[in-house]
Amino acid sequence: MSNHIAIATINGIQTIRLQRPDKMNALTNDMYQQMADALKNSNRQSDIKVNMISGEKGCFTAGNDIKDFLAYAETGNLADGVIDFLTSLGTLDKPLILAIDGPAIGIGTTMAFHADLVYATSNALFQTPFLDLGLIPEAASSYLMPKSIGYVRAYEMLALGEPFPAEKALNAGIINAIVDSDQLDEHVQKVALRLAKKPIQAMLTTKRLMRGDREKIMQVMEVETEIFARQLRSEEAKSAFAAFLNKSAKS
Ligand code: COA
Repeated sequence: MSNHIAIATINGIQTIRLQRPDKMNALTNDMYQQMADALKNSNRQSDIKVNMISGEKGCFTAGNDIKDFLAYAETGNLADGVIDFLTSLGTLDKPLILAIDGPAIGIGTTMAFHADLVYATSNALFQTPFLDLGLIPEAASSYLMPKSIGYVRAYEMLALGEPFPAEKALNAGIINAIVDSDQLDEHVQKVALRLAKKPIQAMLTTKRLMRGDREKIMQVMEVETEIFARQLRSEEAKSAFAAFLNKSAKS
């Protein structure tokens, strides 16, 4: 197990922190699996009332590790940890709060559409470069994103790959508020604590009612995952991954 994910539960708040700064918190299968296990565990553990995911100062995540994408292209499938994490997002009972500073690429953006509250700094940048990588939307974003921010803005993000800086993300309704970088953790902890003190059954039921479409979300994820795996094996995707890794090796 890697030490790129730190998990701690204090005062009913389970904090999942991404900490792989040398790779901009790019997510490996092992990291996905640890996050998935923690989220699934929160469904079962009565001492966990609220989940929070945060990154490093200046970087939330650069999305899926592209080296891993290249490996999945060879095996022909997304790894189990990735699929488990997507499932855990779609079946999460307890609230999820995100604290985002810096880039939130790929899954870093799409997980925001599963979160119940999202706080970001002025330095945050949301982007889903799936098409440029020869891939398609994941995490049910092809369904959740148009529903949440409207079709044309979702298309701008998912197809054009347009980056949404914090202000644009706030206007689009992707985030709740822009918070100073040095106050982000404290702000999110305070909000999480307020939630953790709410009557638990009423809180769980409210999320279920508001998210009503769990079955639909899981169905979309299943379809996306199958097509995503097919695209991973495509020549257009393989050459996009190789281009990123070559550029990185040269710099
Ligand atoms: N997978 C694997 N490694 C990654 C990565 C990713 N998704 N994103 C960044 N890294 C690595 C780089 O290869 C580099 O490694 P090196 O120092 O060994 O060469 C290191 O992290 C720092 O990245 P770098 O690109 O130099 O940082 P930056 O500040 O200039 O740019 C990003 C940051 C996030 C904008 C840029 O790294 C990026 O675009 N990453 C790819 C994002 C992406 O397409 N993700 C997939 C989403 S589906």
